[in-house]
Amino acid sequence: MKIAILTTDRGHPVVPRLREWQAEMARSGHAVALHFDKGELAGGDLLFLVSCSQVIGEQERSRFARSVVLHASDLPHGRGWSPHVWAIAGGASRITVCALQAADPVDSGPIWLKREFSLEGHELLPEINAKLFACELELMSEMVRNPPAQAEPQRGEPGPALPRRTPQDSRLDPERPLAAVRFGDVPPPRRLRSVQPPTNELTRRGLMKRTLAIIAGTALLALIPLASHAQDPAAQKGMQIFVEQKCNVCHSIAGKGKKTGPLDDVGSRLTSAQIREWIVDPVTMAAKREPKSTRKPPMKKKPLPAGDVDALVALLSALKK
Ligand code: HEC
Repeated sequence: MKIAILTTDRGHPVVPRLREWQAEMARSGHAVALHFDKGELAGGDLLFLVSCSQVIGEQERSRFARSVVLHASDLPHGRGWSPHVWAIAGGASRITVCALQAADPVDSGPIWLKREFSLEGHELLPEINAKLFACELELMSEMVRNPPAQAEPQRGEPGPALPRRTPQDSRLDPERPLAAVRFGDVPPPRRLRSVQPPTNELTRRGLMKRTLAIIAGTALLALIPLASHAQDPAAQKGMQIFVEQKCNVCHSIAGKGKKTGPLDDVGSRLTSAQIREWIVDPVTMAAKREPKSTRKPPMKKKPLPAGDVDALVALLSALKK
């Protein structure tokens, strides 16, 4: 078989693994070419796009019988940039990797194969990469040796596309005890009482809105019976976002807000992962729920920055009865 791999960063840690795979395939009689720019793609039976930041159009795809993208999320969830990094930073311990047909728009094509890998929570980046790359190479080998007859269309609503990560997204709080630090996450630190100073990126109007929300949030917080978690900066930020995002139009905490949607014991009824799912993809959660949610108006999907979702999860998972 004539196989091409396109990966757009020569220095990417997957490149040495791709070279090993290339040699292994050569031993079974396949010709594998590794490219770093789509301009180099001549054509063949199979094209793999691995850690590829170039968009491949119909013109390049038409030169191959199959053009396959490796994408580390359970599509249609997690379209966009660095899906596994966003997921791991958000506390995920199982990551799905899809081999899907390259299509327009990006990440929308039908899925050939899926594989999963799991994490124990202590892995460092090279260890996460090793698991991810092993999964990707396994999918590639399967596509060469034993491809399914056809790809399955993606089912369900795609969530909001994930943005490209910036250094800001990986910022850690140096004041937090090491035991409480999880990469990119905001776990509620129980001993720290300091409220983070507002960052200077905020515009004056934004600052004003935020200040008002903090005041409103603090007033709401005062009503929450469990004073211990209410003092947590993460829960406090969560309350501020709860108010800013007008969650209280449909939900109440401690009797404040819309009383028909109380969330006071949501932390005992749902896991943090389920609460996160509700915030990130309420449409799917409402459909999945047994019995199906019929409350009106239904909760709509609203893309929120990862940090805001984390803070809401910290707040809501602490609400227990
Ligand atoms: C337009 C109304 C509306 C808004 C605004 C809204 N929700 Fe919801 N939410 C709902 C409905 C409806 C349900 C389904 C609950 C049911 O069937 O009783 C729900 C369910 C939930 C659940 C699961 C609750 C459970 O008991 O299973 C959580 C958690 C949640 N919402 C959090 C939020 C957060 C956080 C916000 C703000 C970012 C928010 N919601 C904004 C209407 C809304």
